[in-house]
Amino acid sequence: MNVLFLAPNYPTEMQDFTRGLREVGARVYAIGDGPVGSLSPKVQHALAGYRQARLFDRAETLGAAQSFGVKFDRIECLWEPFVELAADLREVFGVPGMTLDVARGFRDKELMKQRVEAAGLRVPHHARAKSAEEVRAAAERIGYPVILKPIAGAGSADTFRCNSREELEAALLKTQHVAEVSVEEFVDGDEFTFDTICIDGKPAFTNVAWYRPRPLLARTNEWISPQVVVLRNLDQPELKQGIELGHAVLGALGMTSGFTHMEWYRKANGEVVFGEIGARSAGGHLVDQMNFSSDVDLFREWARAVVWKRFEAEITRKYNVAIVFKRARGQGRITRIEGLDRFMHKYGKHVATEQLLRPGTRRRDWKQTLVSDGFVVIRHPDLEATLQMADEFGESVQMFAG
Ligand SMILES: Nc1ncnc2c1ncn2[C@@H]1O[C@H](COP(=O)(O)OP(=O)(O)O)[C@@H](O)[C@H]1O
Ligand SMILES: [Mg+2]
Repeated sequence: MNVLFLAPNYPTEMQDFTRGLREVGARVYAIGDGPVGSLSPKVQHALAGYRQARLFDRAETLGAAQSFGVKFDRIECLWEPFVELAADLREVFGVPGMTLDVARGFRDKELMKQRVEAAGLRVPHHARAKSAEEVRAAAERIGYPVILKPIAGAGSADTFRCNSREELEAALLKTQHVAEVSVEEFVDGDEFTFDTICIDGKPAFTNVAWYRPRPLLARTNEWISPQVVVLRNLDQPELKQGIELGHAVLGALGMTSGFTHMEWYRKANGEVVFGEIGARSAGGHLVDQMNFSSDVDLFREWARAVVWKRFEAEITRKYNVAIVFKRARGQGRITRIEGLDRFMHKYGKHVATEQLLRPGTRRRDWKQTLVSDGFVVIRHPDLEATLQMADEFGESVQMFAG
């Protein structure tokens, strides 16, 4: 089986998906933005061929794909900006898999909601807007508070909650560079993910994670140490409707084979509302968390699912898995970390991995990367114990920069 994989090296988790493809026996050809020398050894080892091309340049990428002179059996991409490009190339080369039209439904936030809504599922009231006038009109129709966000966004970038006309005007000023936006009813409640690995549209694997707090709040307040918690017990009544919604959404959008990452809201009154979905894996180490929950390798199982349409990992969820992201106080380079030794002494055996930036390292831009200045992954069979440790890490471990 010949697989063309777009973006094999960046974001970092793509390196493990590349490895996974090789491990299930595919011949892996890849196209990425960087020179071959910049590929990690893991990726170099896995590849049968590599071309450097600018993935945002369709003609250049197409030319690079043709230059392999190989008949591809699969064309895959798990990096959001190029999921549509992969579908486009599949059509050009006559390769089975998700069509461009279906891929658009997983990328364009208005089209996505239209299709989900047409299937009778609950989405936030919404409108597409290309000008300030259209935004204002949509907000009046929907009613405040509203959310303003890019049609094809990611990571809560350029996303604003507006409680009033005044706040809408302020958000309009800040989003002038965004060509097209989605205006939505603000849905108050808890926010969860629904992740799957599908084979021909049917989930062979499912996962639910809980955001603490909601991503928009986490991205707006630097002092917060955001948590994402992979839940061990998917049979709890609080999740039932959300999981049902997730399955229905996959059907409504025509999912094929591969990873999906959906977000959904649960209101205080129990109503569940669709948020968004991508035909790709979640970022921010969520795949690692899912792996830590059942001690499996979903990088490889994803590959098996897309290449051979099989899923072989034994899923027995043993742990709840919390990731806690840290942001240092101050600017520049990390100077010290407080409280880590004490935390590790107390809870070390529940820590799956700890990757805080060490003193001397330059701080990351917390608005640009969820990973912030590093993170810890904590796991425990009991949810309360997991949350307690995650909260204690957030409160008692502090990083400083200067
Ligand atoms: N209609 C909405 N109601 C409430 N919160 C929202 C709504 N739309 C977006 N948000 C908040 O903004 C965050 C980012 O929006 P989302 O649609 O997930 O875009 P992306 O993650 O691609 O940037 C969400 O996780 C959520 O916290
Ligand atoms: Mg999102």
